[in-house]
Amino acid sequence: MKEAIVTQGLTKKFNGLVAVDHINFKVKSGEIFGLLGPNGAGKTTTINMLITLLKPTEGTAYVSGFDIRREPEKIRERIGVVFQDMTVDRNLTGYENMWLHGKLYNIPEKELKRRIKELLEFVELEKWANVELRKYSGGMIRRLEIARGLLHTPEILFLDEPTLGLDPQTRAHIWDYIRRTKKEKNMTILLTTHYMDEAEKLCDRIAIIDHGKIIAIGTPEQLKKTIGGDIIYITVSKENHDIKRFMEVIKDNVSEKTKIINTNTLAITVENAPEKIPLIFDVAQSNGVKILEIKYSRPTLDDVFLQLTGRKLREEEGSFTDFVRRAMLMRRRRMR
Ligand SMILES: Nc1ncnc2c1ncn2[C@@H]1O[C@H](COP(=O)(O)OP(=O)(O)OP(=O)(O)O)[C@@H](O)[C@H]1O
Ligand SMILES: [Mg+2]
Repeated sequence: MKEAIVTQGLTKKFNGLVAVDHINFKVKSGEIFGLLGPNGAGKTTTINMLITLLKPTEGTAYVSGFDIRREPEKIRERIGVVFQDMTVDRNLTGYENMWLHGKLYNIPEKELKRRIKELLEFVELEKWANVELRKYSGGMIRRLEIARGLLHTPEILFLDEPTLGLDPQTRAHIWDYIRRTKKEKNMTILLTTHYMDEAEKLCDRIAIIDHGKIIAIGTPEQLKKTIGGDIIYITVSKENHDIKRFMEVIKDNVSEKTKIINTNTLAITVENAPEKIPLIFDVAQSNGVKILEIKYSRPTLDDVFLQLTGRKLREEEGSFTDFVRRAMLMRRRRMR
């Protein structure tokens, strides 16, 4: 598969601060790639270099095969961008915002009209086309920004924190549009997020970034496997059994990584719990052991981040801090 983005030791320093520190990653054509990291990790700075708004201090990157240092115009023609901060004009209607953007890209008027109609339908805002954005909800504005980013049919779409501060239901809705954009428009998408659920549910591959460095890269499944697998907890009846003997049987038949948790509970680490549970029942039955309870837990990306950095990432849902950040942004814009 062709590579849509390749970074080579990409670095950005602001005075003494290394915001992005020699990062290397590749985004394949047609995939949704996520940069996941906490506040201040360097996500926006990375995007700003890739979309040629910021010059790297060191290293470089290739976007659609063009060097960000040498051919920024070629790149700008081929990318769509949805910024972290809102960039639409709230005094204009949805249609007017789209029209203005199309004019900036010199899209011929007839073609522009056709594309605006198609894209407003795509994000289900056609009924709101002639309404001023001040009457839109945060989620509707985000959908309009996505539609606008697609207006000049880019090869790659950059989304900086696409669901920042939105409520969980609206976030899930935006995810659907992003998935459809990949599928129906055959688009490569690079997005940043500090929501691990967003990275996990939406991205084909993820790079975890912290203090400007990439600390892990892979599919959500691969990243979680670094934790060592799912853990199955099995509690057996205390009658007629010897937990040590049962542990040995489980070790021989299911997984070597089995521990006794208490007098009648075992913890079994396996790669894929649902696959192994029927086998555990069979082994228990043929050894005359009665199972009282069986449950399992899967590692999350938060566990991965915790293991790599010793810190927790952040809460999954639109947090109060995000809500305040977004609300302040909207207020500032309204006051302009
Ligand atoms: N123009 C600038 N001048 C000086 N420092 C900057 C500038 N832009 C970003 N930084 C600093 O660089 C670091 C990375 O910032 P960046 O905005 O890329 O992080 P981020 O991962 O996007 O965070 P957030 O989740 O808050 O959006 C931060 O410490 C930030 O304060
Ligand atoms: Mg940012």
